[in-house]
Amino acid sequence: MKKLLELLSEEMGQAFEAAGYDAALGKVGLSNRPDLCEFQCNGAMAGAKQYHKAPIMIANEVAAKLGGSEAFEEVNAVAPGFLNLKLKKEYLPKLLEVMAKEPKFGLEKPEKIKKLVIDYGGANVAKPLHVGHLRSAVIGGCVKRMNRYVGHEVIGDAHLGDWGLQMGLVIAGLKERYPDWVYFDESYEGEYPEIAPFDISELEEIYPASSKRSKSDAEYKAKAMEATYKFQQGVRGYWALGQMIREVSIKDLKKVYTTLNCEFDLWNGESTIKDLIPEMVQYMKDGGYAYISDGALVVDVKEETDTKEMPPCMILKSDGASLYNTTDLATIMDRVQKFNPDRIIYLTDKRQDLYFQQVFRCARKTKLVKPEVELDWIGFGTVNGQDGKPFKTRDGGVMRLERLIQDTEDEMYRKIREGREMSEEEARKVANQVALAALIYGDLSNQASKDYIFDMDRFTSFEGDTGPYILYTIVRIKSILAKYAEQGGDASAAKLGMAQSDSEKALVMQLLQFHSMMEGAAAELAPHRVCAYVYELANDFNRFYHETKILTEEDEAKKAGWIALLSLVKDVMLDCISVLGFEAPEKM
Ligand code: ARG
Repeated sequence: MKKLLELLSEEMGQAFEAAGYDAALGKVGLSNRPDLCEFQCNGAMAGAKQYHKAPIMIANEVAAKLGGSEAFEEVNAVAPGFLNLKLKKEYLPKLLEVMAKEPKFGLEKPEKIKKLVIDYGGANVAKPLHVGHLRSAVIGGCVKRMNRYVGHEVIGDAHLGDWGLQMGLVIAGLKERYPDWVYFDESYEGEYPEIAPFDISELEEIYPASSKRSKSDAEYKAKAMEATYKFQQGVRGYWALGQMIREVSIKDLKKVYTTLNCEFDLWNGESTIKDLIPEMVQYMKDGGYAYISDGALVVDVKEETDTKEMPPCMILKSDGASLYNTTDLATIMDRVQKFNPDRIIYLTDKRQDLYFQQVFRCARKTKLVKPEVELDWIGFGTVNGQDGKPFKTRDGGVMRLERLIQDTEDEMYRKIREGREMSEEEARKVANQVALAALIYGDLSNQASKDYIFDMDRFTSFEGDTGPYILYTIVRIKSILAKYAEQGGDASAAKLGMAQSDSEKALVMQLLQFHSMMEGAAAELAPHRVCAYVYELANDFNRFYHETKILTEEDEAKKAGWIALLSLVKDVMLDCISVLGFEAPEKM
């Protein structure tokens, strides 16, 4: 369905045209003076210059053309030339009917369906997810679902960190412990074991130990670098071991990501495009883009207008080793070959700003992507503790993401058990759902680029701009609908009525903003807009609910109309939270 303002602008445009003016002047917007009218059009003011006429004259002429209008009950031309508009009572209910009936509330397909690749998650193999990974997973997942919702084709890729020195450190650590493993026998030509000879806890122990040792032990560091090199060159045993490390890590990462409702279509990594690197390097040399500087292969990405330092993008180090840039650029090549995307979106912590500028410039300059391909980077802020510093455990350690999720769940469980009659089992289940909402909403309701303070007390509160408040509102509506059914009402047959009170009108108007909100949020990659919308909708509903005795209303048609309205509010809220990445319980 067309969006409300589009419909109104269309009708207004026709009136401008009929009066002899440009139809584009008929742009209708929400009123600045809701006390006077619901909508307004300032086209007569805008057209005055063009037509050398007093705006009020234009406004009067246009108003006269709107006599038999489908939408407008009253059109008042007021000095100096505004058009104040009031809708016919039956107009909005008709639009709501369409919303209630159509899939996705009548959201129109995008003019051009785009293919998007979203690179998010940011996990590194052999390392546990920590609190910093929450944002990439949660924001990236939401950006993916928003864009799917509005009709684009979206591929989500985990793009694991499985390439650099960290691989060599883990492999070197394993080699120290198990020098006899067949992986390290370079003359071995047989198959490698199918089952990994280590588990995730061993990897998580080896990595930091190995990393620490490499900082003080130069000989060991050299071994780790050699292991990295062999792995990157694809030396059989090293490569096979690397794949095992990936496999074991992915299995473990999936567990945590699943608890966050975060799933990926692709579990590719930096190493996935290993075989494309030589081709890409050759391409960059052949195109005359890359040159040798101090032994390294680089591409200049400086532009004349730069005011800041912009170092060249390094493709290969002087020893021929490849880096983070190399894999990112080759991954762009791979994505273009495989998916030919219209847009690629990356999520990382905002400190990678300069890095992504370099990579994007390099990709454009070397024509790895066509000029029309959009490359976006969402740099997110830090999750801080109450002290304003990066969130830590109580004893100052790095907060594992699993721990944070568990702590939130425990806190939610405590709150739910307090003063509620619920079995232990149910309370656990509900706590799990609500905690997820608390975490996800707490994160997404902030603009991505801003740092935020992880405030357990506030995030898990049932009041205010929080996930639990949103769920509470949905559960409240569900319970009213259930009571209506108990009274013998049939909500599916209920017909939407005309909004009477101000609070009801506000609620209706909010519902009708859904389409433009969702399209805007998806295009701008802005999950916080969905949060702001669902919060406003919840507030509008609660205001209406406190003013209106719904279930005891004697006029059955009126009651049924409200029930239909509530159903729609609930359904819109449910779609919003599913896009955000959480679900509502039946009760809480
Ligand atoms: N693994 C990286 C990190 O820990 C983030 C990866 C982001 N994606 C990318 N294509 N560079 O910082």
